[in-house]
Amino acid sequence: MSQLQIAIDGPAGSGKSTVAKAVAQLLNITYLDTGAMYRAVTYAAMKANLSFDDETALKTLVDDIQLDISPKSIQLNGEDVTEAIRTPEVTRCVSDVSKVGYVREKMVILQREIALNQPVIMDGRDIGTVVLPQATYKFFLIADPVERAKRRMLELESKGFEASLEVITEEIITRDKIDSEREISPLMRAADAIEIDTTHLSIDDVIRKIISLVKVEK
Ligand code: DC
Repeated sequence: MSQLQIAIDGPAGSGKSTVAKAVAQLLNITYLDTGAMYRAVTYAAMKANLSFDDETALKTLVDDIQLDISPKSIQLNGEDVTEAIRTPEVTRCVSDVSKVGYVREKMVILQREIALNQPVIMDGRDIGTVVLPQATYKFFLIADPVERAKRRMLELESKGFEASLEVITEEIITRDKIDSEREISPLMRAADAIEIDTTHLSIDDVIRKIISLVKVEK
């Protein structure tokens, strides 16, 4: 039997990560947050003061990078960056770094390696379309931008950041636009993905829906 692979894609704030993490626990499979990988590269590029247009410098950076991703923490060249990659500054820049072709190629290789030997659930923008096109199950989560901004605002406030709903809504719309319009593997629903609109659903509703659709072979 082939490995169980569950792909969860969708725009920022659609609930992907929270849902994917919970489903991974319920099914006892590995969870991979691919957004965290692009965030870690962005954090490294910012720390090195690189221009995001400088593809050669970004190429050298990702070639030398050591990323260790576990469900609890993200280590970048031995530094724990779990919190540092979630700051508003990184969030603002991550779409620009993740549209660079070489960065994507490298991340996709790492993501596929992780999916090779174990059952996984991965969340991102291109999992069902590019990373795991043969995934056993594909879900595409969407939600109204203002609802997504409200969720992001609560998350930021809980971490002590000040946030305005208007600014966050604008940032989310900008990020959606860059992620959906980039040339290489844009944010897109795979033709065979099940779309779930989470605007009026609780996290538990979404988890239940996904679990009810996934059949785990023992
Ligand atoms: O899921 P997130 O908000 O942490 O993702 C951060 C950014 O990373 C997102 O704006 C686009 C990029 N990303 C991507 O291009 N491809 C993925 N598979 C995951 C994230």
